Amino acid sequence: MPIFLDTADVNEIKRFHRMGIVRGVTTNPTILLKEGVQGGMRALEARTKEIAELIAPLPLSVEVTTTERAQVIKQAKTFASWAGNIVVKVTIHGPEGELENLEIIHDLETSHDIRVNVTAMMSAQQCFLAALAGATYVSIFGGRVNNMGYNACGEISRLRKLLDQFNLKSQIIVGSTREVLNVIEWLEAGGHIVTVLPSLLEGMLVHPYSKETVQMFLRDAAKAEAQLKES
Ligand code: E4P
Repeated sequence: MPIFLDTADVNEIKRFHRMGIVRGVTTNPTILLKEGVQGGMRALEARTKEIAELIAPLPLSVEVTTTERAQVIKQAKTFASWAGNIVVKVTIHGPEGELENLEIIHDLETSHDIRVNVTAMMSAQQCFLAALAGATYVSIFGGRVNNMGYNACGEISRLRKLLDQFNLKSQIIVGSTREVLNVIEWLEAGGHIVTVLPSLLEGMLVHPYSKETVQMFLRDAAKAEAQLKES
């Protein structure tokens, strides 16, 4: 399932979902804020349910908004109760590197039967540990890795080898896409999924030379029709 959409924009999701090219949707608090989902839990619930229903049974990732253990578990259970295709996103660790999250992730996957997408990861080693903890998805932020001066492709292929070598079930999601070429290069490197902005998907689809070719076909078809009418 190679392409997820990284957005909470319902119209964009509808547009690409109708084409049959989307296999899931990911969101995060920054995306939700940017797309006008304001009004706390009630607004989040409404948008989440709308998207989940729209794409079901494809997965929708929704990120917890707290770091306190009991609250994370409570929120995760609430999110999961909204629809059967919801995956709960939890960051690899807390804002200061607090280590409690992996234990919570393991607990959610093994004791609460909740699918987890471990997020905000920048290296194969972080993702490997999240996979060992039992995460359904491990999200590496390819664009941010590249921004730091490392090559995301190297981290992705190293990670994929490890997952295969140890028969770990986690699927690699590569996010933080910046350029159209990221999609194919990260899938080729071993990512199971790349999550993309709608604008990048449009960039993958539309090619100037294809436009020119389509214009030529239409022009010549019109000419042929005109000649037929004249004769
Ligand atoms: C992925 O799951 C994240 O939501 C996202 O891709 C982060 O991207 P950014 O680096 O553009 O914030």
